[in-house]
Amino acid sequence: MNLPAFFEEDRAAVDLALERLMPAGDAMPASIHTAMRYSVQAGGKRVRPILCMEAARIFSADIEPVLPVACALEFIHTYSLIHDDLPALDNDDLRRGKPTCHKKFGEATAILAGDGLLTMAFETLANAPIDPARRVAILSHVGASAGTVNGMVGGQVADLEAEGRDIQPKVLEYIHRSKTAALIRASVVSGAIAGGADDDNVARLRRFGETIGWAFQVVDDILDVEETSATLGKTAGKDAAQKKATYPALYGLEKSRQFAAELEATAMAELAPYGPRAARLKELAELIVHRRA
Ligand code: FPP
Ligand code: MG
Repeated sequence: MNLPAFFEEDRAAVDLALERLMPAGDAMPASIHTAMRYSVQAGGKRVRPILCMEAARIFSADIEPVLPVACALEFIHTYSLIHDDLPALDNDDLRRGKPTCHKKFGEATAILAGDGLLTMAFETLANAPIDPARRVAILSHVGASAGTVNGMVGGQVADLEAEGRDIQPKVLEYIHRSKTAALIRASVVSGAIAGGADDDNVARLRRFGETIGWAFQVVDDILDVEETSATLGKTAGKDAAQKKATYPALYGLEKSRQFAAELEATAMAELAPYGPRAARLKELAELIVHRRA
């Protein structure tokens, strides 16, 4: 996939900031810091931090202070992948083309590396060099989005409980909007807040983030069917093998693709009032829906 130049620039800035924010690999206890670094640096696309930065850029030219916020979202995302791959959850050996954290460092270290990353995320947010009232608003929104009520952990619980069952469309919607869309929405919302957006604009970007986040998981489900493990860097075809609740399982591939396109159009419409100021965010939204990995 041809990534736009700004995406590569943002990704480089995020990688550098992540490196600076994480404890050194030899900081005591070295085992956990090595594991945290291994998973954060395993080559993720950095979609959430880049969404955060580009949402901020609509409202502010100076996005340097937004970088710690963007990194905190990647810490939370990485923790969720480490825990998702554990034997008690999805039990996977491969992530981002590499052995999963517990395969490499053992289960105990992987569990604690996830805990460490989640905790460090909130410390990083609390220390972000932005207006204190905005910082608190971000902490609250990110906390809720990663949590149990319509948040990532709640969605993950529903996802596990739906395995092997015939589920209703409403439950599938709940799983996708909570497990995946909530953190993506939080990335966009926290970027907007950090960039100085007023309440109406935060609400608009919240709708955009929610919708594009939902599309992200629908596409993820489609890719699990269509692509290979080599392309995805994680085990392909796992959803069907584990009898997961997915869009292709419930509606078929064609309808799932159609639905992703509808969500993309709805998300794009939210950005229309910003014109060229939202050009990068629009390009990101397209990338999310049309990616192949
Ligand atoms: C792939 O992101 C990740 C998802 C589609 C999110 C799935 C949600 C979970 C695994 C929730 C787990 C929650 C808990 C509490 C364990 P990506 O394609 O951006 O991956 P990348 O960062 O490797 O590019
Ligand atoms: Mg899972």
